[in-house]
Amino acid sequence: MNNFTYHNPTRIVFGKGMIREISNLIPAGSRVLLTYGGGSIKRNGVHAQVMKALAGCQVEEFGGIEPNPRYETLMKAVAQARKFNAGLLLAVGGGSVLDGTKFIAAAVRFEGGDPWDILARDKPVRNPLPIGCVMTLPATGSEMNCYAVVSRDSTQEKLAFANPLVYPQFSILDPETTYSLPRKQVANGIVDAFVHVMEQYMTYPSAAPLQDRQSEAVLRTLIEEAPRILADPPDYDARAAFMWCATNGLNGWLACGVPQDWATHMIGHEITALHGLDHAQTLAIVLPAVWKHEKERKKAKLLQYASRVWSLDSGDEDSRIAQVIEKTAAFFRSVGLPTSLHDYQLPPEIAKTVAGRLSRRGAKLGEHEAISGKEVEEILRLAY
Ligand code: NZQ
Ligand code: ZN
Repeated sequence: MNNFTYHNPTRIVFGKGMIREISNLIPAGSRVLLTYGGGSIKRNGVHAQVMKALAGCQVEEFGGIEPNPRYETLMKAVAQARKFNAGLLLAVGGGSVLDGTKFIAAAVRFEGGDPWDILARDKPVRNPLPIGCVMTLPATGSEMNCYAVVSRDSTQEKLAFANPLVYPQFSILDPETTYSLPRKQVANGIVDAFVHVMEQYMTYPSAAPLQDRQSEAVLRTLIEEAPRILADPPDYDARAAFMWCATNGLNGWLACGVPQDWATHMIGHEITALHGLDHAQTLAIVLPAVWKHEKERKKAKLLQYASRVWSLDSGDEDSRIAQVIEKTAAFFRSVGLPTSLHDYQLPPEIAKTVAGRLSRRGAKLGEHEAISGKEVEEILRLAY
């Protein structure tokens, strides 16, 4: 097991009706900038619950944060937060709203020039505004992590930053807030959470048996619960299990002491930046192709996963690996996400374009840092 430090300061407040707890989490009189997306929170009653709980605070609102939040929009919120002299940002919505809010929090008091450099040049962030969150879409794990991903129109870039100062102080997870999600977003969330686990698990053995079992537990829960998670009308217990899986998928617990991959995410972000596919749609395409390309290096873990998660124990190693890659792709398709570039009619040249963009940034992806431009191109050809 590798050495590690783990500290996670986010308070999770979980369950039915828990939005009312905001009144105990934010001191009365606080100046709160409530950030949200395209309006789902106004249609599903979440906004009304939040405003009731904020009755003792001074509140302004900033709406319109898009899926794959745009730097251009977020900078308008930065200006509003400065003018309002906000003391806390309350993100209410999905991962995009929260990621965007983490960027706003970091940018408000940023003194190093253009805040885009927080993402593009890893410029240090000091003294960000505190963040609270009501998460309405189980997927990213953003509610209990310190990552944010922001897109910029003018350069067609989608970049991430990580900073321990942007962990939400608290995140409220009420599974009932997910009832209004369109089926497509539920499917996206299942796949995103699943792939987060894989980025931390599907590498090589590292004498971390507990972390392996924790990862396998999240994977098996997602697979077993998927039909109930997708059921209509929504099933509270399945939604609760889903929500907690998504948080566990990327709150750092699974990453303690183990090697990590993240090639699928890095390649996927480029496809979103260029062609606008949803984040999870890109992952469902790229992950099986990464495994096909990397099957020798990932052999031991692919076989472990085949056995422990899918009970694939017979046949020779190569056939078990081929079967488990296909089982995983079939699982993505079963929840409703296609698994090839062809399904989205993306041009075959995308392989070269994405490879070129990543290699210009000096990318060395994967747990062995062995995936550069040439390998990215090969992977995307396998994804066609
Ligand atoms: O904008 P509104 O109107 O709220 O609608 C949203 C949006 O259209 C809707 N939605 C959210 N909750 C809803 C709802 N609709 C009805 N009922 C609800 N309860 O869903 C749509 C998609 O929302 P979005 O926030 O974009 O989805 P998601 O949570 O999947 O976030 C995706 C973003 O997170 C980044 C992705 O790259 C992408 O930009 N990621 C962030 C990570 C992190 N912070 O750790 C890790 C991930 O790997 C990922 O990269
Ligand atoms: Zn993701």
